[in-house]
Amino acid sequence: MAILKIARMGHPVLRRPAAPVEAPDDPEIQRLIADMIETMLDAPGIGLAAPQVHVSRRIIVFHVPRDRVAEGESDAPPGVNVLINPEIVPLGDEVAVGWEGCLSMPGLRGAVPRPARIRYRGLDASGTRVEREASGLHARVVQHEIDHLDGILFIDRMPDLTQLSYEEELRYRRTGE
Ligand code: NI
Repeated sequence: MAILKIARMGHPVLRRPAAPVEAPDDPEIQRLIADMIETMLDAPGIGLAAPQVHVSRRIIVFHVPRDRVAEGESDAPPGVNVLINPEIVPLGDEVAVGWEGCLSMPGLRGAVPRPARIRYRGLDASGTRVEREASGLHARVVQHEIDHLDGILFIDRMPDLTQLSYEEELRYRRTGE
């Protein structure tokens, strides 16, 4: 396995729609997935999309740490999840606003409105079809990562760019330190 270089905002690969994966069991795809997981955990981040490591393919990896959600709130499967060729459908009209960061925009945080509940489907790393409903941080990270497959960054979803901040400034405002 290897830790891959992460593309940062301004690199064209982040703005290009990614191509579907035709053979999930291709050894190159399997190696890419393993490297993406290692890269995400090393960063550390809770999600990573293949275009962020300069590979324009429709693959995302994510995990929802238990300490990042209120007790009993997370409906994400434990551990690292892999989704190949994912698709997403919003459920209902409820919109939730939450702070997001992105490994391609290090140090920045933005308040981003997104559908609060979604259904998504795709293939896991073994090529098995998965379909789940998601809410909370689970829904947010999946939407953020799938956006990367369509060349969309979280700032594109922000109606109010005054809510784009450096993480350190937010921390300062929260703690007053
Ligand atoms: Ni991101």
